[in-house]
Amino acid sequence: MGVLKSGFLFLVFTVCLYPVFVALLTVPWLQRHALYAHKIHSGFWHDVNKPESFGFAAHQVTPFNVSTPDHEVLYAWHILPLATVAANRDALATSDAFDQSLPLQLLKSDEQARVVVNFHGNAGHVAQGWRTDTYRALSNQPHTHVFTVDYRGFGRSTGAPDEAGLITDGRALVNYVLSLGIPPSRIVILGQSLGTAVATAVGLSFSDPTSGLLPQSLAYGKVNMDKAVFRSIILVAPFASLPDLLLSYRIGGLIPVLAPLRNSAFLVSLVTKYILDTWPSGLRLNAYVSAASTLSSTSNNGAGNVHILHARDDQDISFVQSEKLFAMATGKDVEELPLGAREVVGEGKVGVRVEMLEFGMHNRVVTYAPVGLAVMRAFEGV
Ligand SMILES: *[C@@H]1O[C@H](CO)[C@@H](O)[C@H](O)[C@H]1NC(C)=O
Repeated sequence: MGVLKSGFLFLVFTVCLYPVFVALLTVPWLQRHALYAHKIHSGFWHDVNKPESFGFAAHQVTPFNVSTPDHEVLYAWHILPLATVAANRDALATSDAFDQSLPLQLLKSDEQARVVVNFHGNAGHVAQGWRTDTYRALSNQPHTHVFTVDYRGFGRSTGAPDEAGLITDGRALVNYVLSLGIPPSRIVILGQSLGTAVATAVGLSFSDPTSGLLPQSLAYGKVNMDKAVFRSIILVAPFASLPDLLLSYRIGGLIPVLAPLRNSAFLVSLVTKYILDTWPSGLRLNAYVSAASTLSSTSNNGAGNVHILHARDDQDISFVQSEKLFAMATGKDVEELPLGAREVVGEGKVGVRVEMLEFGMHNRVVTYAPVGLAVMRAFEGV
């Protein structure tokens, strides 16, 4: 009896509260807090200005600020390759923790230096969760410098997040690295989860700055609008677009967002109209492949490839999203992809590779060896 009664109450609760939940999410402020979850972080008891507390070697990480053309100040990290730290231990030991001069000199003076620009997922700050393991894994590769940033409204960065803002922030970090004299052919853009949407849009904004698929309000500032194709764009646990994702997304693998509406085309179109930031990565990646192919064939030999990785046991974003993204990027039909890698190189086009992994879940996967291998692969022949 008790079980029946509580089951009934649960049903009433769910049926009545779900519409309230969906209605609340149409309020812009609530929607952006739910999507970006930037206020959910451990900044109160973790000090990102003490990278050693996250397991880095002394002086391996230099925190610094990047300014955006629309006057936000973003908090960022420059992580040195461990081998570079070892070779310069004594000089680094006398350098101030926030002094960028020596770390940047080590980057600029290494002819084999390569840079991974990392765009993290939603919630938290640069050092949240598995993120630090990712940086450590990559900086264990010789000559590999990692740059990572907190988007506006995240961690110690100023402002509040939205789609145009995050893309502006991504561009600001990439422009910072370019301003150091690092050529695009030595830069890999790596994104995970929400960061894949940023990585894709940033890639498109450099290969085709005037693309109609980019937000109108993107703040380019006075930076030059020279086109660029980077070494590679690596997308880990991505999604094809936000409305599409929300139809299958379950918060923490449990609570559905729009899945209950999925069978009603009317309700779906009604509710998706209220999604403010749609992050159309599938369309953008397709446009990127076209634009990058044209640029890559004339200048950067072999650059611009896309590598998508997704774990089958991802409980947050289904691997089906990568199947859709791959199909959209390559212009093929959506198909069920087996475990392992598949590559499509259209004639005269940059390659698009998709790799279905058996393990890795949603967040941890970016720390796993296949992502390290993807970075190595990207830089092969450089
Ligand atoms: C970055 O900016 C913040 C706020 O403006 C400032 O407090 C901090 O000292 C700056 N950090 C560095 C490393 O310059």
